[in-house]
Amino acid sequence: MTRKLFVTTALPYANAPFHVGHMMEYIQADIWVRFQRMMGHEVHFVCADDAHGAPIMIAAEKAGLSPQAFVAKIAAGRRQYLDGFHIGFDNWHSTDGPENHRLAQEIYLALRRAGLISVRAIEQFYDPVKGMFLPDRYIKGECPKCGAKDQYGDSCEVCGSVYAPTELKNPYSTLTGATPVLRSSEHHFFQLSAQRCLDFLQQWTQEPGRLQPEVLNKIREWFATDEHGHVGLADWDISRDAPYFGIRIPDTEDKYFYVWLDAPVGYLASLKNYCDSGRARAGGEPVSFDALMADPALEQVHFIGKDITYFHTLFWPAMLHFSGRKTPDKVFVHGFITVSGEKMSKSRGTGISPLKYLELGMNAEWLRYYIAAKLNARVEDVDFNPDDFVARVNADLVGKYVNIASRAAGFLAKRFDGRLSADIGVEGRTLLDGLRGHREEVERLYEEREFGKALREIMLLADRVNEYVDQHKPWELAKKPENAAVLHDVCSVCIEAFRVLTIYLKPVLPALAAQVEAFLRVGPLAFADASRALGAHTIGTYQHLMQRVDPALLDKLFEPPVVEAPAPGGEALAGTISIDDFAKVDLRIAKIVNCEAVEGSDKLLRLTLDVGEGRTRNVFSGIKSAYRPEQLVGKFTVMVANLAPRKMKFGLSEGMVLAASHADEKAHPGLYILEPWPGAVPGLRVR
Ligand code: 2FM
Ligand code: ZN
Repeated sequence: MTRKLFVTTALPYANAPFHVGHMMEYIQADIWVRFQRMMGHEVHFVCADDAHGAPIMIAAEKAGLSPQAFVAKIAAGRRQYLDGFHIGFDNWHSTDGPENHRLAQEIYLALRRAGLISVRAIEQFYDPVKGMFLPDRYIKGECPKCGAKDQYGDSCEVCGSVYAPTELKNPYSTLTGATPVLRSSEHHFFQLSAQRCLDFLQQWTQEPGRLQPEVLNKIREWFATDEHGHVGLADWDISRDAPYFGIRIPDTEDKYFYVWLDAPVGYLASLKNYCDSGRARAGGEPVSFDALMADPALEQVHFIGKDITYFHTLFWPAMLHFSGRKTPDKVFVHGFITVSGEKMSKSRGTGISPLKYLELGMNAEWLRYYIAAKLNARVEDVDFNPDDFVARVNADLVGKYVNIASRAAGFLAKRFDGRLSADIGVEGRTLLDGLRGHREEVERLYEEREFGKALREIMLLADRVNEYVDQHKPWELAKKPENAAVLHDVCSVCIEAFRVLTIYLKPVLPALAAQVEAFLRVGPLAFADASRALGAHTIGTYQHLMQRVDPALLDKLFEPPVVEAPAPGGEALAGTISIDDFAKVDLRIAKIVNCEAVEGSDKLLRLTLDVGEGRTRNVFSGIKSAYRPEQLVGKFTVMVANLAPRKMKFGLSEGMVLAASHADEKAHPGLYILEPWPGAVPGLRVR
């Protein structure tokens, strides 16, 4: 029976290039998809950029671009990674595409009709300077428990306590430095606390075979009774107030869907975009999105990382179910990738840059093979270990598999015009039958995403073939003309065995398999071809299929990127002075009590400084290029307090604040005013 599959990977945020964690997920899903296609199934495999949300809006603003232009720039960089690692998505779209706007609004309206949307006012921090509500990650302040400074709105990195952003002492907006104010606004909620939602999710998540056991355990925790005796989920806040880069909520002027509402809808939007393009085909016929989604046989499968399980196993199926749509059949959760045991950060990635990997000329299929060898169906982290990488690729992939072809192909070409022997004798047949006999087991392991086990199994089969070669020693047989027939058989068995192993490895090594198909002069290999012998067939000339990994490449891969050595300030040291010379300069701690732009000057800021004298001083400073006035108000700095007052065009300047800069400010821009450690008070002398 031909299966119909709709497969996705998580949609990456469009604010950064891919890191190796993305590539691991794409490789895992791509292997599974290629396997399904080799089984003759119909697969539609799509992804998209996750375009919306406050961080992307803010990053775009910093880059001086519209969010749309910012996202487009990131999207333009995707192709080289996907092609480079042979990731065969059928379509790459964006959650900001028109399909997603429509689908997200339709789903919302259906949920509203189902009586599952409520609207109520909530109080949140608002940045009065920026004119926007602040997501928690943009609020910092002093920990309410231990007083540590500059702690995030949800928890303290110093004492570990957890709190709400409103509990922070002296909170400030990390966007502007302004003190946030509490402001109320109406939010839209998806009422997941409703009994029918809980009932549905209990049943949906428990469906045998749908979720991995570890995932089910997590979900049981999420359903557990909370401290108020409430079983189940809280309502989900799905709206954000303008300004927000997102999809407008129907019947509102200034409210947008929270990015996590429209992101998974992007799966459907990308599929729809693909179908509408006319490129989606099944049996030569165009596939319609509506017909596909209405087909009860369609299996919807999402590959995701463990950090976004909650969204995909609770919010997303509930959104789909209560809007009258098909729910996912499977959610396949994987762990993270670590490098030599070290966790990578989601934003910074790891020491491995996928692009650098390719630029070094490293073979993408080495990485595909290595990652596959370490993957299983559980939610476990995968460790990239450079020594292990070299060993596995060189010993298994090249040493065991590729070698088989290189040991036999030459004799066939030279002695037998590339013709395979049709009648190969009992021993060869037994070997080949053994290989073919493992087909179902290999298929089962791929289906279950037990890629590591599949590859181990295949390498054991390769071992058998190599033993056969070692026993029969074609290089010895080739020495005596009377052994020609045996030599022909042995080499033919090797090539046939190599073909079967190639079929088994093809989901992992698609480019290598294509080379092998060309060499063997056969069409695209499918799993069923493993059971059919090639028979009398003429193969092409063998060309070396894969290089060994040079361990030096891994050193290069992990070399920190070369950054230009910082110029030592661009100027030579001034002449030596005595301590008495230095004492002539009276440096004092000053508090910036006010700061404003100077009308008519594009360089100066006017600072009002408290130097502990019972009056304030007026100081003009050429730091406008580096700081906005609101960033400086309330900060402490260091000033030269005994500099003769200077009359300037804009008024009297009574001192000077200290700032660091390069001698050649044009070539090395950057201006940094000094700030004392916490505890310094106005008027303290700096010596
Ligand atoms: O965690 C992330 O990177 C999200 N951009 C994943 C979204 S998956 C889907 F919902 F779109
Ligand atoms: Zn603390």
